[in-house]
Amino acid sequence: MDLYEAIRKRVACRAFTKQMVPKEKILKILEAGNMAPSPENYQPWEFIIIEDPKIREALTELKLESRRQVLKETYPNLNDEEIEKRVQGNKTALQTASYLIAVCYKDVDNPAETGNMKLSFSSIAAWTCISYMWLAATAEGLGMSPTFYSYHVYNKVKKLLGLPENYHLAAVIRIGYPAKKPLGRKKTVKPLKSKLHLNTFGNPYSLTME
Ligand SMILES: Cc1cc2nc3c(=O)[nH]c(=O)nc-3n(C[C@H](O)[C@H](O)[C@H](O)COP(=O)(O)O)c2cc1C
Repeated sequence: MDLYEAIRKRVACRAFTKQMVPKEKILKILEAGNMAPSPENYQPWEFIIIEDPKIREALTELKLESRRQVLKETYPNLNDEEIEKRVQGNKTALQTASYLIAVCYKDVDNPAETGNMKLSFSSIAAWTCISYMWLAATAEGLGMSPTFYSYHVYNKVKKLLGLPENYHLAAVIRIGYPAKKPLGRKKTVKPLKSKLHLNTFGNPYSLTME
């Protein structure tokens, strides 16, 4: 599959078949992630491949707790039943994926560069790595989605994964054969035209070829 086709087909896949993904494919996806760019080529990412069913179960429970808390804070009017309905997608994804991989990173931020800009260079690098893995998974005909753990449960997840103090979790990614085929974008993409500015913010940029 060529790169542009993979870009077009990539989606967040949250339900997988029982068919096990061969390890060779996972290694190719990990190799792709490992080739991602990073500030000063620091390559801060580490990958934890979760094989222990007890850790998978705990990661699932913690994700459900995380999602419930986030939904409660974001939509205070939702009742418990609606909340439970909305957390199901993440449950299915964590339970049915062939592989769960925690993408972690060492905190290597340089305040001389970012000051108090509220951005984490190493986190950006870890997510860039996840993007590479996502496109590689798509090119392999696999489904993938990342799952983020909110601050409510974050320290529990760190402890579960045995992460040292100066390491962080970007996301747990879930990879498997997609339950719904074919892969392809269903969600609308905001038109490119509405995102383009000429020279300064707010001046429309023309898409027509001169
Ligand atoms: C930083 C980041 C965090 C995300 N967190 C989650 C998550 O916690 N759970 C999940 O199911 N999907 C997560 N996603 C996937 C997005 O929900 C998904 O990419 C978005 O809805 C667009 O849909 P698409 O990927 O199918 O185009 C995350 C994506 C990014 C980039």
